Amino acid sequence: MKLLFLTVCLCLALGLSTSHHGGGHLQTDEPAQDHSKHHHGAVLDRCDGMEMDAVAVTETGTPYFFKGDHVFKGFHGKAELSNGSFSELDDHHHLGHVDAAFRMHFPDSAEHHDHMFFFLDTKVFSYYNHTLEPGYPKDIKDVFPGVPDHLDAAVVCPEEDCKSNMVIFFKGDDIWHYDVKTQKLDEKEFTSMPNCTSAFRWLGHYYCFHGHQFSKFDPMTGEVHGRYPKDARDYFMRCSKFGDSTNHIEREQCSHVHLDAAASDNDGNVYAFRSHHFLRMEGEKMHSDTVESAFKELHSEVDAVFAYEGHMHMIKDNEVFVYKIGEPHTHLEGYPKSLKDELGLDGPVDAAFICKDNHIVHVIKGQTLYEVDMKATPRVPIKDGPFTLFKYVDAAMCGLDGVKIIVGNHFYHFESLMVMQAAKAVPEAKRVSTDLFGCDH
Ligand SMILES: *[C@@H]1O[C@H](CO)[C@@H](O)[C@H](O)[C@H]1NC(C)=O
Ligand SMILES: *[C@@H]1O[C@H](CO)[C@@H](O)[C@H](O)[C@H]1NC(C)=O
Ligand SMILES: *[C@@H]1O[C@H](CO)[C@@H](O)[C@H](O)[C@H]1NC(C)=O
Repeated sequence: MKLLFLTVCLCLALGLSTSHHGGGHLQTDEPAQDHSKHHHGAVLDRCDGMEMDAVAVTETGTPYFFKGDHVFKGFHGKAELSNGSFSELDDHHHLGHVDAAFRMHFPDSAEHHDHMFFFLDTKVFSYYNHTLEPGYPKDIKDVFPGVPDHLDAAVVCPEEDCKSNMVIFFKGDDIWHYDVKTQKLDEKEFTSMPNCTSAFRWLGHYYCFHGHQFSKFDPMTGEVHGRYPKDARDYFMRCSKFGDSTNHIEREQCSHVHLDAAASDNDGNVYAFRSHHFLRMEGEKMHSDTVESAFKELHSEVDAVFAYEGHMHMIKDNEVFVYKIGEPHTHLEGYPKSLKDELGLDGPVDAAFICKDNHIVHVIKGQTLYEVDMKATPRVPIKDGPFTLFKYVDAAMCGLDGVKIIVGNHFYHFESLMVMQAAKAVPEAKRVSTDLFGCDH
């Protein structure tokens, strides 16, 4: 029945929705699969404000958002069929959706460590390395004694946050703490919490999703501090056109969605670009605006930006736009020019940076680093060798304190270009939101 209902809904959506997917390239850990030839996958658009069924973070650190028989991997990109990643989560079981999911990450619980658990009606599925464990699916009561069927959400809470290793289960307005070691179930009263339809732990914080909104909560007490709920599309998805009444600066500081590009100018001001918006930091002073209003010709979704001789050089696909730094950002005559003519490279590129008072621009394209001398004519890219420290890079910048490579929510700081070129391992990951943009939560 449920499946039939779902199919009807999706068919309606197919007729009504003007499906929109950003043009950016997918940078999740797994290659994107085009399921558009399959029935309804192409029309599930998370920017329409949908309620997710379940969220879990995989062993590679990618959040998977489940909706119906589909999964959205990471913070942007299209839905894929869940059974492409977890083959038993399909229609044979007449289930069609996931109630709750989490990855058990408790190294001292050898049996379940790093297993992904999925709850579907009365059953629980346990996957290790994308393979269903022998004997699964099992009845929930046989694996998690006392935990009810037909759950709404679940999230793991390690002992640093919950005093012992717990799973928090949600159903309606009931909430339980399940101690993984003792199997003791403790019913909690979380009065200020909305009913969660999915929940996950992300960068050490706990988020409850309800409708297309979310609230951050304390896993011990269920208290929600600060201005919540907020719109999930502002912080956990890459969507362009809504929520104009929210505080752009705070959103851009605190968003978990990856950046498109970042640059530091000669005065040490930092610019960070994300989809249709950008953030400019002059010391502690923050400014945010839409890309379209400040860099009209470019519109949005830039690939790479670097500042050179008082101008922002902005690369998008196979074109280079050049703007004078300072208000207003006037576009230089004769631009955009082709990337091939400007830098001798074919697009798309992932990141570009230039260090203060230098005239060599470093361009990252996949796992190759190129150098282009801006003073040379014609400009010829020189391969600086492979750049295999990172699988991919979203943005990079070189400021007074060295080079920062930005990947997803994290950045990696090298004291200088030479240190980066000599590095054999990545330095400690720091958070873009709190450590780079000063987000206070
Ligand atoms: C996934 O499910 C769809 C139907 O929803 C089916 O057509 C497809 O063959 C399944 N794929 C795998 C890998 O099981
Ligand atoms: C995971 O599975 C793949 C193939 O499906 C295999 O090559 C790999 O060794 C497995 N990894 C672990 C840790 O079991
Ligand atoms: C929360 O769940 C309870 C059932 O457990 C239900 O009675 C209540 O209406 C729900 N609240 C909302 C806002 O959906």
